Amino acid sequence: MKKIDGIINTGIMEQSIVTPNLTPNIKVYNEKLIEYEGIEYRIWDPRRSKLSAAIKNGLTELKIKSDSKILYLGASSGTTPSHISDMVPEGLVYCVEFSPRMMRDLLHVCDSRNNMVPILCDATQPKKYQNIIEEVDFIYCDVAQPQQSELFMDNMNLFLKKFGQGILMIKARSIDVTKQPPKIFMEEMSKLKTHGFSIVENIKLEPYEKDHLALVIERVF
Ligand SMILES: C[S@@+](CC[C@H](N)C(=O)[O-])C[C@H]1O[C@@H](n2cnc3c(N)ncnc32)[C@H](O)[C@@H]1O
Repeated sequence: MKKIDGIINTGIMEQSIVTPNLTPNIKVYNEKLIEYEGIEYRIWDPRRSKLSAAIKNGLTELKIKSDSKILYLGASSGTTPSHISDMVPEGLVYCVEFSPRMMRDLLHVCDSRNNMVPILCDATQPKKYQNIIEEVDFIYCDVAQPQQSELFMDNMNLFLKKFGQGILMIKARSIDVTKQPPKIFMEEMSKLKTHGFSIVENIKLEPYEKDHLALVIERVF
């Protein structure tokens, strides 16, 4: 197993990205389980998770440690949140999701993982969950909505620790189907920079996801 710089508890094994399974023998989305040097790992499929796709495409700057507190916006049924949960065995993943249908599936995942906290809320209204969560080290945003940069920045401003980091998954077609993706990416990056954030890394997600960009973001001081 080889560790990727800055990504604790994640490794590359035979060209696959894997995370050590926090709940041995339990799968989340029928992913493959493999054993390596006495530890069970879950294969992290880049076609099912944008973070895995970004790591496959060279992302290196993630500041997630084994005790990090994470705020995850758009947790859906828990595919990517569960891998992040593997990466933070001494930390917590606050999972915000507004669809009751998705929340039902997410609750099953949270039941077996004691570091995942389900929150049925709209991420455009962060004040509604302000009394549930604490300041966090990292914010992950994958809501596939036109206003995703704005809601991401609102959550960063309310919940991110001073030297924390965030990642925003931009799906061009969710923002404007009539515009060319490169133009949308430029506009979203410029919005973030205007509001006091810097783009530490930007990674295209092809061939795993068409017209998607992952942005690693920090505050400017
Ligand atoms: C692309 S899916 C996320 C997939 C997930 N990140 C993963 O990799 O496993 C987007 C999710 O965001 C949720 N969502 C969209 N807008 C939201 C909002 N304003 N607040 C909370 N969840 C939202 C949707 O219901 C959907 O489940």
